[in-house]
Amino acid sequence: MKITTAVILAAGLGTRMKSEIPKVLHSVGSSTVLGKVVTNLKKAGIKNIIAVVGYKAELIEKQFKGELKFVTQKELLGSGDALKQALDALDEGCPGVLVTCGDTVLITSATYEKLASTHLNEKASCTLLTASLDDPHAYGRIVRGAGGDVEKVIEEKDASREEKKIREINVGSYCFNGPDLEKFIHDIEINEKKKEFYLTDIVNILVSNGKTIASAGCEADEAIGINSRKDLAVVNNIINKKTLEKNMDSGVTVVDTETTFIDETAKIGKDTIIYPNTVIEGDVEIGSGCKIGPFARLRPGTKVSRDVEIGNFVEMTRTEVGEGTKIKHHAYLGDARIGRNVNIGSGTMTANYDGKNKNRTEIEDNVLIGVGAILIAPVKIGKGAQVGAGSVVTKNKNVAAGATVAGIPAKAID
Ligand code: UD1
Ligand code: CA
Repeated sequence: MKITTAVILAAGLGTRMKSEIPKVLHSVGSSTVLGKVVTNLKKAGIKNIIAVVGYKAELIEKQFKGELKFVTQKELLGSGDALKQALDALDEGCPGVLVTCGDTVLITSATYEKLASTHLNEKASCTLLTASLDDPHAYGRIVRGAGGDVEKVIEEKDASREEKKIREINVGSYCFNGPDLEKFIHDIEINEKKKEFYLTDIVNILVSNGKTIASAGCEADEAIGINSRKDLAVVNNIINKKTLEKNMDSGVTVVDTETTFIDETAKIGKDTIIYPNTVIEGDVEIGSGCKIGPFARLRPGTKVSRDVEIGNFVEMTRTEVGEGTKIKHHAYLGDARIGRNVNIGSGTMTANYDGKNKNRTEIEDNVLIGVGAILIAPVKIGKGAQVGAGSVVTKNKNVAAGATVAGIPAKAID
């Protein structure tokens, strides 16, 4: 038996984000808040995912169409009410359903698997995911009895001074036995302070009815729920740190981990050195033995071969670079294909956008582009050609292999 169904609670307003965008659609790492949660659940073998949506539901449904099932929470009456809306979408009598918040993106697939297996092994009515935090402020606290069994979850707002000292918190992910959930969820009463039905109140209800509550632990980082922009920054930093570590473990030198951003989807070869203040966004591929930065920005669709040097203030997007090429200072290269052993002078710009279309620039092997050259796309610079400093190579005026051009507009010179 395995747990293959999950409900993601994602109807909340995300008030503390102070945003026009629903909280779960904010960008995090190379995905969105909800996208991350969905990816991790799928990795844990969850096949059937139901999302409870409410605030700006149509935006979320549009983005995850075909991937998730949706139920709507019409009035935002709390997490308990949100889960109630999903009951009809669950298979009758299912022994286990996983429930998770839409804003906890760092819970790993291994942790979801652990939560599910603990629930099934202990034949529990409800299994809670918990973590021990140095600063448990704002989270629901796990109240245990003398024997160590979970008695209830108490929210910060309702906690006594003693309860506030508890460092074990409710991460907001649970497994429930289906029939018990359906039977007891209706017993949750409205919390008078917040005018919401707290899902967490079901724990005490189950205990009072003699049901078994189990718990599984996870790392403190995993518990971070994104409620504010500050939380978002914390989570983004954690994701970036992990990505930098993964790259370093596979043989990439990162000179300054504080100022380097590398996207999770980027692939970088061995012995490549990334200098400070470099930003690598999206599915960028970099070969081995390259030197990147300082202050380089490589955007999605950039593919760099081996032994390439890309220096300070170089921006590249949707551009391929061949082996041994040097682009050492101040350049913009967009929608370009650059061959091997090319030297791109300081200040070279591809004018790739004509106001309507993005056009391509092709620079073949062994070309020398002088400083401050402008290449107006579409244009091709043939093998071994040279473009003089300050030249403007105009649209469709391809430069023949071996030719030398200079001037505005660039013309062949002997
Ligand atoms: C919740 C838990 C708290 C836990 C914390 C972990 C409750 C009552 N408290 O608090 O114990 O420590 O998560 O991050 O559940 N939602 C709806 N509909 C609503 C209200 C909320 O779908 O009417 C969704 C939100 O979109 C969110 C999740 O439920 O994904 C949790 O709501 P949130 O307001 O973030 O709860 P917390 O105060 O963080
Ligand atoms: Ca939250």
